[in-house]
Amino acid sequence: MNTANFFDIEIKSYYEDKEHSIKLFCEDCLELLPQFPQNSIDMIFADPPYFLSNGGITCHAGRMVSVNKGKWDVSQGAEENHKFNLAWLSECQRVLTKNGVIWVSGTAHVIFSVGFAMQQIGFKILNDIIWFKPNASPNLSCRYFTHSTETVIWAAKNQKSKHTFNYELMKQLSNGKQMRNLWEISPPQPKEKVHGKHPTQKPLKLLERILLASTRENDIILDPFNGSGTTAVAAVRLNRKYLGIEVSNEYLNLTVKRLEDELTNPRFRLVTIKPSQ
Ligand SMILES: C[S@@+](CC[C@H](N)C(=O)[O-])C[C@H]1O[C@@H](n2cnc3c(N)ncnc32)[C@H](O)[C@@H]1O
Repeated sequence: MNTANFFDIEIKSYYEDKEHSIKLFCEDCLELLPQFPQNSIDMIFADPPYFLSNGGITCHAGRMVSVNKGKWDVSQGAEENHKFNLAWLSECQRVLTKNGVIWVSGTAHVIFSVGFAMQQIGFKILNDIIWFKPNASPNLSCRYFTHSTETVIWAAKNQKSKHTFNYELMKQLSNGKQMRNLWEISPPQPKEKVHGKHPTQKPLKLLERILLASTRENDIILDPFNGSGTTAVAAVRLNRKYLGIEVSNEYLNLTVKRLEDELTNPRFRLVTIKPSQ
């Protein structure tokens, strides 16, 4: 498919910015993805439900708070959760270009199912990144180690894919040494939350690194679990095209605010290095 035409296809969007090639859809990704053409997306970042909203408590900013994120994050049981992961991952694989890649974040509640599903349907797993959060909240019960990491699996469409890896740029960002799969990145800074809160917002720095590592300018990026639009902001900042799918219009409105701020007001820009083309 000619990617230049992707943004002309007739799927009703919630928000569109033609100039910057951004489209947001207010839909269930399981229903919308089948309408996307196959082999049309260069890169996918997915931050799916982790299924950890189990009524427990955690510590946030020194206070006891519920771990519940919303109905969308409630576990349906191991088998149903795995069926769900297989379903959206299969659609993602179908829409990726032949050399396209996917990144999926998760904790132990979901990441083993994601990794197994990827192997079942023939993705080629490239790396598992350990995202280390240096300032993680303490464990209140004192019966477990402090949770301070998430895993991000990076995989190519299939065994034949020749994926993009901007090796030299990653080395540059790692003080001239080969970048390791252990990434120390703090949770989102307050300045990333000025337009409102999302319970599982990812730091821009994480998305910027992912995009810089595995995409080129003008590539088409898809996030099927858009949330507050962190992937969208990183894509715009790095001159990539963006498609986001999200069931909640509240979170899409937050995304639009973040995008409009990013496009009109570059004061928060963090990136200092652009990938060589
Ligand atoms: C873990 S959060 C993503 C957070 C995002 N990475 C950010 O930085 O803000 C997952 C999001 O997916 C949405 N969601 C859950 N199930 C969905 C589905 N089937 N289709 C589309 N969106 C879904 C939820 O409303 C939630 O906002």
